[in-house]
Amino acid sequence: MTRKLSEPLQSQTVRVVDQTKPFRILIANSKGGCGKTTLATNTAAYFASMGHKVALIDHDPQGSSAQWLSARSHSLPNIYSVAAYRKDDSHTTRSFQLMVPLNTSHIIIDTPAGVTGNVLSDHLRHCDLVLMPVVPSVIDIRAATGFIKDVLLSPGFRIKPKPIAVIANRVKRNTLGYNKLEAFLNSLHIPFITTIRDTQQYVRAAEFGMGIFDFTQPHEKDLEEWQPLINWLNLQQKNLKNS
Ligand SMILES: Nc1ncnc2c1ncn2[C@@H]1O[C@H](COP(=O)(O)OP(=O)(O)OP(=O)(O)O)[C@@H](O)[C@H]1O
Ligand SMILES: [Mg+2]
Repeated sequence: MTRKLSEPLQSQTVRVVDQTKPFRILIANSKGGCGKTTLATNTAAYFASMGHKVALIDHDPQGSSAQWLSARSHSLPNIYSVAAYRKDDSHTTRSFQLMVPLNTSHIIIDTPAGVTGNVLSDHLRHCDLVLMPVVPSVIDIRAATGFIKDVLLSPGFRIKPKPIAVIANRVKRNTLGYNKLEAFLNSLHIPFITTIRDTQQYVRAAEFGMGIFDFTQPHEKDLEEWQPLINWLNLQQKNLKNS
């Protein structure tokens, strides 16, 4: 996999102008601990490793993505941090998206567990697509089904529907109890993009503000698992540009 170092951090935050509209990826699931931050940080690390200008917006009061970024070495491809959880009432989802550096090409939005109602609607309104990690357990799958229904019924989604994809995370073996979720997703034409295995690679990477793509020698299996997601994201971005 080819990698380029991105340009150094711009010291000034400036408003993004319409001509350079960034690709906005929302990572969401109302269930806690399903891998939202892991997916957000690794997606950000991937696009940064490819030389893109990436911003990571953290809406979670736990600040996990922002803490991940503060542990990140300056020698790694830069990712711009927006700690949106430190908000006052005058801030909106959109105003945080305007706080990224000029020419930001990718905005990754990490959200907390339990997002519903108007907040969910606002996030859905201001993104280009939704990635939803789901852990293969009956409890998580039930919660995921409920969350997808919430998303589809949310005014922010209904005003302007957008692609949604599900990613199975922390998968321990090939045989999954996903049949029901898969049938449900199929009935809604929501793709089940890939499965990400349960591995200490993600835990180790997170400790140092890294994604698996920052490793000198990422594990071949992990790259293989990410490829369908990368292909899907690139396709969605291309479709968006052509629309
Ligand atoms: N594929 C994986 N393999 C191993 N560990 C993982 C994997 N994905 C996530 N984890 C670990 O599981 C825990 C929860 O993951 P993460 O913080 O990404 O979930 P989350 O959905 O963001 O949680 P929260 O709802 O609290 O924000 C973390 O300790 C993380 O390192
Ligand atoms: Mg999180």
